[in-house]
Amino acid sequence: MSKPDVLQLGPYPEWDMERLDGLFTMHPLFAVDDKAAYLAEHGGKIRAIATRGELGATRALIEALPALEIISVYGVGFDAVDLDAARERGVRVTNTPDVLTGDVADFGIAMMLCLSRGMIGAEKWARFGDWAAHGTYPAQRRVFGKRAGVLGLGRIGFEVARRLSGFDMEIAYSDIGPKDYARDWQFVENPEELAARSDFLFVTLAASKATRHTVGRRVLEALGPEGILINISRASNIDEEALLSALESGKLGAAALDVFENEPDFDARFRACRNVLLQPHLASGTVETRKAMGKLMIDNLEAHFAGVALPTPVI
Ligand code: 8YV
Repeated sequence: MSKPDVLQLGPYPEWDMERLDGLFTMHPLFAVDDKAAYLAEHGGKIRAIATRGELGATRALIEALPALEIISVYGVGFDAVDLDAARERGVRVTNTPDVLTGDVADFGIAMMLCLSRGMIGAEKWARFGDWAAHGTYPAQRRVFGKRAGVLGLGRIGFEVARRLSGFDMEIAYSDIGPKDYARDWQFVENPEELAARSDFLFVTLAASKATRHTVGRRVLEALGPEGILINISRASNIDEEALLSALESGKLGAAALDVFENEPDFDARFRACRNVLLQPHLASGTVETRKAMGKLMIDNLEAHFAGVALPTPVI
């Protein structure tokens, strides 16, 4: 029997490619220069899309693939997939929840510590001889015992808050309602109020049209000139223009960012800010998690073509 044709929208590690190539005929659209010509030639036989969280799948692409049955996302976030277009066409969508939760939460905590304690600047201070030449690195900001806000107490937000409790922090969270599994933490309905009572504000919202720009000028100013914002979710949850002007004007203390609009060509103004920690969308980037994500993405495709229940369906 011939192998199902799968359109590949981004690169995957070798360990995933071996299995993908064994099971499917892969079409690496991302590596092709003339994408329109490639789709015109192969689009008619494509039965699945393998994509990544930040790449998703647009309506135009979904509509250009008449034989499409399933979109499998390598990532928990499926905000970049046009779910309406998929639904209209009866196309299934899957993602990779749970397997990355711990690493993403760890990464948020690491960014908080790294930024608050000035570890990047201090590392350069030691490496490039300033320690010997100029003495002690300037004192930085404490983390333990401070006030933390978690905006979005889903799987990742919960794991962030659980880790923060190990730092004896006063923890509050916002979500659509109080969570019965979060009794030790204060529920604060309004994100602006949450920001006002936080030294560190973690953005862990599952992005959707409804969460777009939840963090805007008012939330940023409520967090204030001493406040630190940490975003390990999606750029769309934050009004990036408002974030840049708050950082540039000092109305916001600092930000640790793993996600940006227009990745990887993010706004160059961020590079000029001294009060940001920039990371290249790396929160789930451990070998262990990436192997688990790849496995789950492929398990979903395999289950679909075997006609058995999808392990982690979105729709
Ligand atoms: C991945 C992500 O880095 O899970 C998500 O939604 O954004 C990340 O874990 C990404 O999907 C890989 O490209």
